[in-house]
This record gives sequence, structure tokens and C-alpha cells, in this order.
Amino acid sequence: MSAAEKIEKEEKTNPFIGEDAVSKSLNEFYQELAITDSHDPIALKIHLVRPDTVPAVSFLVKRGKRYRTFRDSQETFGAFEIQSLLDAGIDRVFIQRKDGPLIRKYLETFLAQNTGGSSSQISVDAKISLMRANAVTITEELFQDPSPENIRKGMKVVSGFVNVLVRDPKAFYHLIRLSSHDHYTYQHSVGVGLNAIALGKKLRITTEEELADLGIAGLLHDIGKTKVKPEIINKPGPLDPEEWGEMKQHSLWGYELLKDNRDLTQRAKLGVLHHHEEGGGGGYPHGLIDNQISVFAKIITIADIFNALTTDRTYSKAKTPFEAFKLMQSVMMHKLDKQLFAELVMIYGGKLE
Ligand SMILES: [Fe+2]
Ligand SMILES: [Fe+2]
Repeated sequence: MSAAEKIEKEEKTNPFIGEDAVSKSLNEFYQELAITDSHDPIALKIHLVRPDTVPAVSFLVKRGKRYRTFRDSQETFGAFEIQSLLDAGIDRVFIQRKDGPLIRKYLETFLAQNTGGSSSQISVDAKISLMRANAVTITEELFQDPSPENIRKGMKVVSGFVNVLVRDPKAFYHLIRLSSHDHYTYQHSVGVGLNAIALGKKLRITTEEELADLGIAGLLHDIGKTKVKPEIINKPGPLDPEEWGEMKQHSLWGYELLKDNRDLTQRAKLGVLHHHEEGGGGGYPHGLIDNQISVFAKIITIADIFNALTTDRTYSKAKTPFEAFKLMQSVMMHKLDKQLFAELVMIYGGKLE
């Protein structure tokens, strides 16, 4: 394996960037989970779990080369069990590989929450990485099944982002920079949501409800692509006119998917519907002109374009923010709101407020 490949593989399996013990243990867990051709149990450091919160999976301990069951899936795993393991000098348990995704989900959702005193062991870095990893997982579920229940989960993720970003604006750079090499669509959707929230804040949109609307519209903006034929979505080369015609339906189809949902506001739904409109009337689906397009939708549009340029895709490497801005300025300004463009440049220049 070449050095470059090794780095790429490490990035893929190490979504946690902190240097603290929790981040390191999480990276070890994700690395083991990423091995697809193994049936070995996966090690889980005990300091990652909280008493009485673990899902019903069996825990094994290793003696020499053998594994034996320490906890049956239905048994409690509380402070007493944890202490007795630690007293015996054991700092990790093992889980069956089939239980990996469930434990991953537990770590991403539970560990990232503030849960009394124990949460102080988790660094801010690790917590933010977990939030990000959780957002990608939820987005994946959303694209597999955009049900009201999954949309509600998406809204929860987004309000988590808003919460962090309102209290700690600099967390934005941390959230956005993590490159976890996930499937483009999920990575892109989370990125658009985050950039939309940051832009909204910069424009002095201050209520958390409005910011969350921007976030969820960003997360869902391309949900209509779930209705486009997979052959078109995954086509490696350029699309022919007919295929392109179908692809362009995705903003309308997305809106149709969401329009009867009662949890979402109309402005969020219109953000999805209008994210490919252009002020000059050349966009789709309706060819609207400038003042017919809401600021919300314009925010999604610019966050979308910027994020597509700065995310790795199968056919093009991610551009740096600076390269993306240059390209946007030279050939894409007709699609963008000039003031929003200036604000976005400032955000990436370090001016969040
Ligand atoms: Fe789109
Ligand atoms: Fe998009």
C-alpha cells in the first residue's frame, strides 16, 4: 500500500480528530468496524460506554485466544459490572461483528449528548466528531427512506448543529472540515445544511427555529434524487438531454415528497423546491426571477453550489474553498446572490459573525 493510499484509508476509518483518549478509542473502534473481510469480534473500550445505557448486545471478554461471554444481551451492564471489569484489569470488552452498527449508533447518539457528570470525560472535539458522524448516518437513512419519522430524526440532528453553532460559532470550522469520505450525497447534504446555517447566522437570522429550517432544507434539498432512476444518478459520464430532463425533476419531486409533512415549515419546503432557481430566470423548475425567490432558497442554492465544488466526487477532486470561490466568481455569478456570495467568502476568511 502506498503512503497516499494509507493516508486515505486512515482518513476513511478515523473520523475523530481529537488527540484525547476518547477520540483515540473511537477511532480504534471505527477502524475495526471498517474491516469487511473479518468475523472476529470487535473491541470496545469500556470508557466509551455509560452504565445502564448500552443496547441489548452480548459483551465478550478475551482470555488468551478465547472469548467468553461476560454479559448476555438481556443482562444489565451498570456501574457494578463496569467496576468489576476494571478491577480485574480489563479495559475493553468485545462485541460480535453483527452488533457493530448498533453499537456505532449508540456511540454516535448517546455519547454525543450531555448526560450529567460523565459527559465531561468527552472532549469537545470528540463530541463534535460524533455529531457529525451521526448526521451522516441519519442522512443515509433519510435517503433510503424519507419517512416522516426519519425526517424528524434529521430535524433533531439539525437542531443539534444549531445548538452548538449558536453557542460556539467556531465549531463550524471543525464540523465542516471533517472529511469522512462517506458517500457523496450524504456528505454533501450535511455540508449544505451546515453552510446554510452558518450563512443564516451571518445574515443575522437569529432565531434557532429559522436556523434549523435552513439546516433541514439543506439536509433535504436533494431528497428528490431518490426518485430519479439509479442508472441516471450513478452514470459516470455526462447525461443525455432526456436523462438530464429527469435529473432536473429532483427539486420538484423533493418538494412533492415533503409538501404534506406537518413537521416542516413552508419556507423549508420552498428552500428545497427552489434550490436550482436562478435570479435571472434561467433556473428550474419554474424559471423564477430574483424577487420571487426567498432568501431561504437563495441560501440553499449558494451553499449547494459551494459544497458540491468543495466535496470529493467520483469524477472530480474537491476544490479548496479559495478555488471554489474563484470558479463561482468567474462563471457562476448568474446563479448566485451577490451579497450572499460575499458573506460566504467572509465566513471562510474567518469572519463568522
Ligand atoms: Fe439539487
Ligand atoms: Fe445538491
